Amino acid sequence: MTPASVVAPAEDPKRLADFEARIARGETIEPKDWMPERYRRQLIRMMSQHAHSEVVGMLPEGNWITRAPSLRRKMSLMAKVQDEAGHGLYIYCGTETLGVDRHDLILQLLAGTAKYSSIFNYPTISWADMGAIGWLVDGAAIVNQTMLAKASYGPYARAMVRICKEENFHKRQGFEIMTVLSGGTPEQHAMAQDSLNRWWWPSLMMFGPHDADSPNSGELSRWGIKRKSNDELRQRFVNMTVAQAKAINLTIPDEGMRFNEATANWEFSAINWDDFWRVVKGDGPCNRERLAARRKAHDDGAWVREAAAAHAAKQTESTEAAA
Ligand SMILES: [Fe+2]
Ligand SMILES: [Fe+2]
Repeated sequence: MTPASVVAPAEDPKRLADFEARIARGETIEPKDWMPERYRRQLIRMMSQHAHSEVVGMLPEGNWITRAPSLRRKMSLMAKVQDEAGHGLYIYCGTETLGVDRHDLILQLLAGTAKYSSIFNYPTISWADMGAIGWLVDGAAIVNQTMLAKASYGPYARAMVRICKEENFHKRQGFEIMTVLSGGTPEQHAMAQDSLNRWWWPSLMMFGPHDADSPNSGELSRWGIKRKSNDELRQRFVNMTVAQAKAINLTIPDEGMRFNEATANWEFSAINWDDFWRVVKGDGPCNRERLAARRKAHDDGAWVREAAAAHAAKQTESTEAAA
């Protein structure tokens, strides 16, 4: 979804005022309710980016399923990757309640015109990365998605409630991998620390640009889609994660980090936004590889879609014949 597609005609002021009053009263907006065109387009943009992120997010971890160090690890990693496919499916279904066809959204992803979370454009080079991703990436997703579970659009909010339950399992399995590695041999501890060093900053970037540089934020919060700002959610994540890193004897790679007694926040150093924008614009370490993998999966799955369509056509035919 390009930013241009979010542009929408002016709305009838009376209907818009009624709609905003409903949001202010904390009512949930449902698919058949009237909504401003921009609200609908912003939701499609946001939900489709989210669905794409779930599906592309399967790739860095799928890379390690065959190399998991034990059957138990392999089973939980497979279950996690499978959950992410389910999350994608669930949210794509949610976008269809807004009048779009998920096939069109998937074509935008494959064409490289849709965005997904930039975190999945980094490589997974050690087993510890499975731990760091679960702990940090799913951990950051929980912070974001717990807020989205209170979003004003009913189908999206309800999807988040279920998804967050599964994300909790993902975070725990990741944290447990990190705990075991950190308490293992010196080599294993070093592997866990190296992984934290590589994933820490990209995880902070997952919350998006600073509020002042986030063009959609004002409207999203006025319409109850976003309940907290990017910076507030990022701070919440940092405050939680510092204590967790200490508990497992790992060091957050930020020498400038300080606890501010007055605000009770862990203050952190400046984020390298140049790196963020470079990755968002398609030049991260794995952008091309991720899209190539998705295109291949789509092409390889053509026979499944054709078979499903043929089956559906037969079913309709026999139902009509019986009628
Ligand atoms: Fe997920
Ligand atoms: Fe997850």
